[in-house]
Amino acid sequence: MPRYWFDNHPFKTHYFNALSSIFPVGERFFVRSVRYYLGEITNASLRNKVKDFVRQEGHHSIEHDAHIKLLLEQGYVRVRFYERCDKAILDYLNRHFPRFSLAATVALEHFTAIMSNELMSHQKRWIDPMHEDMRRLWRWHCVEEIEHKAVAYDVYQEVCGSYGLRISAMVLETVGLLLDSLLRTAYFLWKDGLFWRPRIWWQGIGFVWGRQGAMRSVLRDYFRFYRRDFHPWKHNNYHLVEELWGGQMHILIVEDDLKTVAYLRKGLSEQGYTVDVAEDGEEGLHLALSGDYDLLILDIMLPRRDGWSVLANLRRGGRQTPVLMLTARDAVAERVRGLELGADDYLIKPFAFSELLARIRTVLRRGSETRLETLRIADLELDLRRQQVVRAGERLILTPQEFRLLSYFIQHVGEVLSRTLLAEQVWGMNFDSDTNIVDVAVRRLRRKVDSQFDSKLIHTVRGMGYVFEEH
Ligand SMILES: [Fe+2]
Ligand SMILES: [Fe+2]
Repeated sequence: MPRYWFDNHPFKTHYFNALSSIFPVGERFFVRSVRYYLGEITNASLRNKVKDFVRQEGHHSIEHDAHIKLLLEQGYVRVRFYERCDKAILDYLNRHFPRFSLAATVALEHFTAIMSNELMSHQKRWIDPMHEDMRRLWRWHCVEEIEHKAVAYDVYQEVCGSYGLRISAMVLETVGLLLDSLLRTAYFLWKDGLFWRPRIWWQGIGFVWGRQGAMRSVLRDYFRFYRRDFHPWKHNNYHLVEELWGGQMHILIVEDDLKTVAYLRKGLSEQGYTVDVAEDGEEGLHLALSGDYDLLILDIMLPRRDGWSVLANLRRGGRQTPVLMLTARDAVAERVRGLELGADDYLIKPFAFSELLARIRTVLRRGSETRLETLRIADLELDLRRQQVVRAGERLILTPQEFRLLSYFIQHVGEVLSRTLLAEQVWGMNFDSDTNIVDVAVRRLRRKVDSQFDSKLIHTVRGMGYVFEEH
């Protein structure tokens, strides 16, 4: 990707770089602020929305983390410093002022929602000039911001609702965000040796504050927030969410169980996807190789050719079409094998349709280029390639050894694992008697993975060892 990936322009690119580098810390702050009040939410549908919100923001921050990594590789090392500063401030707010943190989240979510609305309403102006590798990420992010724009607000209304606090948070956050983005943009330009170029600044100011500038265009929407009777959905722009879905995506289902096919076909068509079906592996492979699909939903047990073989041949044929595999409940080995063969994700049968939709979105959002190899249990996700672990949208920092231990656990869900076995498999050592090292490591891992979450995943089995599962 070119250094100046937006319109070939340094300022414009760096403005977006600045926003992108603010997101991860910001989004983790949102998640913590909202989750803090989860226990106080009585409305079941709102609780579900909060879960979706947490999952979406968790994914956004991971995607933008990758962008930060790119910036670091390009030599913009001070990004880390800004990140640390922001994190220190936001952590402090989370810890000592949860109400204000929630109000700040409401304010910033309004900000991202109106920016997203602007970007998606005028894609020619904002999305098309991006390098194609970036377009997908920004489209997805924008649409999900619009989709969940009222979640933090609704939580806020339920647990606090103070108008004054909401407005003060907005005023402070506006100043903070503008300063932060300006500072970062200025740093990027300085680093490129372009800081003293008035022309670039002039064009940049036009880009942000000019008649069709990013900020100028959202001013009216911005001020809606100051009304007492404000609600994010009073401005109904849900069509932008639907537009991204409708008519664009072409899905191939390879599945022999006719009941499942009917269920999938109906649900997906209702969501605006175009759906083709192959009822055996041979036909599925043929269609997948000859057609132009955005996604394959692939069953494993199929007549004439099984799912593994379809997947392997598809990849061998050079097709990077994202693949979502359908696997049986306890078949962790199957999942691992699928991911190794190049599947993008898996879904355990039987599944809820909303779960399928969420997975489809994730797979499509990633695109085929940046495929992840992710294992999941409950709200924990382990990304084998990036060596990252996320639980409930929050990134957990593990040492390489802890990561190995956790990935061993997650590949053996539900099995009782003895200390000796773990020592052998994870440490590659033969421990005769002293397996204390395993206990110490497990204790440390527990502290990071389990202790701050309600549902525990690592369980001790007396006299035998450990079992990793959702209770
Ligand atoms: Fe986000
Ligand atoms: Fe958001």
